Amino acid sequence: MKLKSLLVVSLVLVFAATSLAAEPIIIKFSHVVAVDTPKGQAAEYFKKLAEERTKGAVKIEVYPNSQLYKDKEEMEALQLGAVHMLAPSLAKFAPLGVKEFELFDLPFIFDGYDDLHKITQGPVGKKLLNKLEVKGISGLAYWDNGFKVMSSNKEMRKPEDCKGQKMRIQSSKILDAQMRALGAVPQVMAFSEVYQGLQTGVVDGTENPPSNLYTQKMFEVQKHVTVSNHGYLGYAVIVNKKFWDGLPADIRTALDSAMVDATKFANDIAKKKNDEDLAAVKASGKSTILVLSDAERAAWKSALVPVHEQMKERIGADLLAEVYQATGFKK
Ligand code: LMR
Repeated sequence: MKLKSLLVVSLVLVFAATSLAAEPIIIKFSHVVAVDTPKGQAAEYFKKLAEERTKGAVKIEVYPNSQLYKDKEEMEALQLGAVHMLAPSLAKFAPLGVKEFELFDLPFIFDGYDDLHKITQGPVGKKLLNKLEVKGISGLAYWDNGFKVMSSNKEMRKPEDCKGQKMRIQSSKILDAQMRALGAVPQVMAFSEVYQGLQTGVVDGTENPPSNLYTQKMFEVQKHVTVSNHGYLGYAVIVNKKFWDGLPADIRTALDSAMVDATKFANDIAKKKNDEDLAAVKASGKSTILVLSDAERAAWKSALVPVHEQMKERIGADLLAEVYQATGFKK
């Protein structure tokens, strides 16, 4: 009898120990866009690789579409540790006091993905991510989205056509200055509220890469889209530093390798996804698509490049010069 109860107790103990050991580490990854976007797809791919490579020791819970938090709240939640991983747009770092990230919002700063990668995959990109450490955040990678189109209920062929239009922007002093340079009236609004804002006429138009325009169905409530490629929207994947540093070393190594591959995946699909989504908007027939000629785009560029000078002190004159040098920027 004694032996039997001893056996039962040891069995219970062994069971408790194994079930404790098998409890996975949960990583909550929150973002604001749809699953079928470059960021949404890359988050899913990271989850797959991370869970495979940690052999189930880590479980990544991805919360897309502002399910958990809206724009501003995400960053606070990360700093508090309520969520562990985010991929916010680069404009979202200025409110933390790291204004240098707003350089990515400057209109016409990059001529295409090649120029962009000279920054995000070079020393400037690394230097900027390092600035987040004192905020309790570690920057793991940059994920591409793409170049923005303008949409509205009015056709915008010339910069002057934007005059007086209420344009939704994400919170950014640079984007505010950009819209004002066009004579438009910028209005900050959370991403999750843009569709309704456009539908009800709270705002007349907005800007975003085609992947967001399409997956948020904004094109259904906008008559015209101008393919202006006037600016860039992309992300940094970030984690709560304390949480990340506290992970077992072998787990972190596996997660880092998953992030390297997910980043390659994100940056490989971004352009294709945006091209496809622009084609899908066109095929829907709900919005007209105006592709600017080179001369028309040049007129937008001359209207908007003065924003660089205007915002030089905010971003840092040296940093801007470094970016110009790296990309060979020409006015
Ligand atoms: C926006 O608010 O327009 C974007 O930052 C959304 C996103 O994350 O792509």
